[in-house]
Amino acid sequence: MVSPISHLSLLVLVLHLSVSLANSVSLQESFVQCLSLNSDRTFPFNSSVYTPNNPSFTGVLDSSGQNQRFLVPSAPKPKLIFTPFRDSHVQAAVICSKKLGMHLRVLSGGHDYEGVSYVSEIESPFIVVDLIKLRGIKVDIKSNAAWVQAGATNGELYYRIYEKSSVHGFPAGVCTTLGIGGHITGGAYGTMVRKYGLAVDHVLDAKIVDASGRILDRKAMGEDLFWAIRGGGGGSFGILLWWKIKLVPVPPTVTVFTVNKTLDQGTTKLLQRWQEVAPFMDENLFIRVIIQRTNKTVTTSYNSLFLGGARELLQIMRKTFPELGLKRKDCLETSWIKSVLYFAGFPSGTPPEVLMKTKARKVFFKGKSDFVRKPIPETGLEGLWKRVLIEDNPLILWSPYGGRMNQISESDTPFPHRNGTLFISLYLSFWQEGEKNVAKHIDWIRDLHNYMSPYVSSFPRQQYVNYRDLDLGINTKHRTSNTEASSWGYRYFKNNFDRLVKIKTNVDPQNVFRHEQSIPPLSP
Ligand SMILES: Cc1cc2nc3c(=O)[nH]c(=O)nc-3n(C[C@H](O)[C@H](O)[C@H](O)COP(=O)(O)OP(=O)(O)OC[C@H]3O[C@@H](n4cnc5c(N)ncnc54)[C@H](O)[C@@H]3O)c2cc1C
Ligand SMILES: *[C@@H]1O[C@H](CO)[C@@H](O)[C@H](O)[C@H]1NC(C)=O
Ligand SMILES: *[C@@H]1O[C@H](CO)[C@@H](O)[C@H](O)[C@H]1NC(C)=O
Ligand SMILES: *[C@@H]1O[C@H](CO)[C@@H](O)[C@H](O)[C@H]1NC(C)=O
Ligand SMILES: *[C@@H]1O[C@H](CO)[C@@H](O)[C@H](O)[C@H]1NC(C)=O
Repeated sequence: MVSPISHLSLLVLVLHLSVSLANSVSLQESFVQCLSLNSDRTFPFNSSVYTPNNPSFTGVLDSSGQNQRFLVPSAPKPKLIFTPFRDSHVQAAVICSKKLGMHLRVLSGGHDYEGVSYVSEIESPFIVVDLIKLRGIKVDIKSNAAWVQAGATNGELYYRIYEKSSVHGFPAGVCTTLGIGGHITGGAYGTMVRKYGLAVDHVLDAKIVDASGRILDRKAMGEDLFWAIRGGGGGSFGILLWWKIKLVPVPPTVTVFTVNKTLDQGTTKLLQRWQEVAPFMDENLFIRVIIQRTNKTVTTSYNSLFLGGARELLQIMRKTFPELGLKRKDCLETSWIKSVLYFAGFPSGTPPEVLMKTKARKVFFKGKSDFVRKPIPETGLEGLWKRVLIEDNPLILWSPYGGRMNQISESDTPFPHRNGTLFISLYLSFWQEGEKNVAKHIDWIRDLHNYMSPYVSSFPRQQYVNYRDLDLGINTKHRTSNTEASSWGYRYFKNNFDRLVKIKTNVDPQNVFRHEQSIPPLSP
């Protein structure tokens, strides 16, 4: 029900908006003025606020967003981008966006699959708070911990840890340009997932800006909200400023390998075997499979990190997965930080310093995910090959879970895809600038996902919130209903969704932090 009061405030809001929209220079002025009043009076905010008539606007937006699908000229653009320099500026941004009636989106690394950190398809006008300047990292080996600011990348974090120690690491994602802010809020897994679980399993504390602009640490926010931000997805509960994480031990020598098999080399049988063994092997061993189309065949790449030396690896492989035929010459002994570079695809010999200056690779893509709980039979794989062979640039990534992931309960964090999950399956399709038939690629991936349904988790069919998929449904209104959101809510979070909704209702009843798939508060 809409009360007369909210009619009135809506009217005020609309009037206010039409005034600010009349002229984006005046919007910039009002925003800058409000920022000064609410944080540093003397800070030159003008140079960190960009409106569309600023010549740098497009450059700032394009360098922060990663999926080019949402950077095309026809995509909705923010009325203003603000790049805060201090934590207090983020507080002021929340306060001022409310004052000016401007809906706010927050961006850390810009890797959102559906671009919701920099594009709103459902609300206009909106502004983007881009945390690109907030990338402090303080590693303290003595206490085995680090404070990391939201705008830092996971690659920068890995590098700062390596600078201080060669026997410490962190179990977050493989791609090294992910923003710590958006990445860890959804769970975050990488090559050490079988040994150590997810990044959220190693979070000790956090600092967030809440809906009223306060900064809260773990103690101040309480255990419910602290639970919600460790996997409940970005953009729902506040603006994450800092994570305090616990480092994990890594050995001085690790081993990596990539072994390729094409269809005529019997990859179907091999992949069936992989499904039976990879989730149950020694926890120090992670063998993922990358499925691609090369020329007229399908190539499967067995791409692996072992936390130990080559000799021990070969012994384990002979015992548990001899079918792959791994040889000593396939194995490269290296350091953990170099294994990070290897998995991120840097040429061998690239110095680790590259992690401090790598920009995200811009691509046009659509992705979807699944969790597989029983091995896919040969017939299932045969049908998969057929589909891979008809698409221009398909990429399918299977990463084994098991190990530590099986020991953590489903409700420990909002990320529920734990015990009994064999592997996570990620499907991607890429295309080039100027592609005339984008719909063809999106249809291809929808069809593939449909095809996979008998082989993957069901009731609910689970997906990973960090591989956001708007096909599952969107919040169409500012104040969406819980039922509307449940179409995707249970898939991302299973029954944790109900707890997330309760917490959201407590901490952000006005739904200040919202986007196409944010957790909705219950209506009052
Ligand atoms: C090339 C590529 C490789 C990937 N590899 C992996 C991988 O190996 N493992 C894995 O687990 N995932 C992986 N992902 C998925 C990745 O974890 C998510 O896309 C993640 O959300 C990216 O975070 P971001 O800060 O870069 O993105 P953004 O687009 O900035 O943010 C993502 C979401 O979080 C919100 N958000 C951003 N910053 C904050 C903040 N400070 N506080 C609150 N909310 C915020 C945004 O509004 C948005 O809703 C990959 C994605 C890509 C594109
Ligand atoms: C900030 O920018 C606005 C709009 O371009 C301008 O009118 C104003 O004078 C600027 N303020 C400062 C302090 O530079
Ligand atoms: C494996 O195949 C991929 C995809 O075709 C290719 O990029 C890579 O170089 C190959 N690696 C090896 C070790 O053959
Ligand atoms: C694909 O075909 C091209 C040209 O025929 C050839 O040069 C290339 O090596 C082939 N790639 C693979 C991975 O077989
Ligand atoms: C994981 O599942 C197995 C098999 O169903 C069960 O025996 C075990 O107790 C479960 N572990 C946890 C931590 O829930």
